[in-house]
Amino acid sequence: MNICVVGTGYVGLVTAACLAHLGHRVVGVDSEPLKVEMLCRGEPTIYEPGLTPLLQDGLRSGRLSFGQDLAAAMAEADVIFLCVGTPPRHDGSTDLSQMEEAARQIGERLRRYKVVVEKSTVPVYTADRMKRTLAMYSGGAVDFDIASNPEFLREGAAVDDFLNPDRIVVGVETTRARDLLLQIYEPFRCPLLVTDVKTAELVKHASNAFLAMKISFINMIADLCEATGTDVQQVADGMGYDRRIGRAFLNAGVGYGGSCFPKDLSAFIHIAEEHGADFSLLREVRRINETRVDRLVRKLHQALWVLKGKRLGVLGLSFKPNTDDIREAPSLTVIPRLRQEGAVVRLYDPHAAVQMASVIPPEPGKVEYARSPYEAAEDAHALVILTEWEEFRALDLEKVRGLLQTPIIVDGRNLFDPAAMAEAGFEYFSIGRPDALRPRQPQAARPRGAP
Ligand SMILES: NC(=O)c1ccc[n+]([C@@H]2O[C@H](COP(=O)([O-])OP(=O)(O)OC[C@H]3O[C@@H](n4cnc5c(N)ncnc54)[C@H](O)[C@@H]3O)[C@@H](O)[C@H]2O)c1
Repeated sequence: MNICVVGTGYVGLVTAACLAHLGHRVVGVDSEPLKVEMLCRGEPTIYEPGLTPLLQDGLRSGRLSFGQDLAAAMAEADVIFLCVGTPPRHDGSTDLSQMEEAARQIGERLRRYKVVVEKSTVPVYTADRMKRTLAMYSGGAVDFDIASNPEFLREGAAVDDFLNPDRIVVGVETTRARDLLLQIYEPFRCPLLVTDVKTAELVKHASNAFLAMKISFINMIADLCEATGTDVQQVADGMGYDRRIGRAFLNAGVGYGGSCFPKDLSAFIHIAEEHGADFSLLREVRRINETRVDRLVRKLHQALWVLKGKRLGVLGLSFKPNTDDIREAPSLTVIPRLRQEGAVVRLYDPHAAVQMASVIPPEPGKVEYARSPYEAAEDAHALVILTEWEEFRALDLEKVRGLLQTPIIVDGRNLFDPAAMAEAGFEYFSIGRPDALRPRQPQAARPRGAP
């Protein structure tokens, strides 16, 4: 099938490359010329495992191409996937200006029937607005359908998630649109749910809000575990074996970030309010998440007392492993807090350092970027772990201990076993688990009667 993908960011690029891999002819359109130039050369604009070969194979086979000319890109297309950004506004509601602009642009260029599909995450009823705009700008003479096909891929595993999804949700208004979308998803062997458009729009926000709730829930359990001297990982295991609950997303830590959970949660709170539903549960989920960085900083105080003048190695800048995306990453809040308190930071991430340097630039003697986790640890008073990259799990801990000025690790992602860390000679502070302090040398007994 001929497909046009509008917006080639994280979702659009993966969608375009995967659909071309499945045999469709796909043209990706983006308004950023530099992005288009790079993609035409076969250079991925994001780091995502497995993406580069799909992109380059697609270009070589001629099934995948990129451009800026929307009219040319959509001329042959039967289906247009909209993958433009839907960022948050100041009040938490969704800024739909990229969707509206895309609808206007498509409307002006509509010459024959197409299905216009919302893949971006949008509030319920967005399709109604899109339909009106498309009709207005196409002059009302051309037939089209609007559909919702929310994307559930996770950054860091996006290609695999796209090709092997848990489910596909397709919200349609006509059998013509349904048949075209089912044809695209024909090779997929997962549950395929066909709904009306509003339901599909709601599924995405409801799913992300629920996942965020699971994370905040386990983070509160972590606080309780710290207060009671128990281990949140064991509690999560004990809960997770219950199939009604499941173990996924029950990992305590420094909180969720990324371009989706924070914005989708705020958007959903807003949507619920607009429709008269009091979803204060989600407000609490957000509040709990916002307190996580404070708790991590408190742990640093517990470990180091005063941060002023201390050298801290920070491992992990992306909001999660296997991506270079730093949008709403906890590191963006943690690092300025450490700087405010006068700490000198040396930052390391396997893929997100360039992105971070554009937001928090290097400042000699204040903010430095390391080329390896070991360089970040060198002469530091503590290591702070903010992202659970596999590379950090595999660290040579003996080497790390030798490099640190004081052998302290504050782990916001619970990568290591506290007892093993104490054994290895570290003072190890993690989330929702007892702190692991090095065994103290027994003190010499004072002579009787001594002051
Ligand atoms: N990133 C994720 O993990 C993820 C997962 C599921 C759903 N989503 C949703 O998918 C949507 C896109 O997210 P993203 O992370 O890919 O965003 P992004 O910002 O990485 O990409 C959006 C792209 O759209 C382009 N664009 C904007 N307006 C355009 C126009 N009129 N014509 C052509 N190009 C245009 C931008 O230049 C940009 O490259 C959002 O609604 C998001 O919530 C994201």
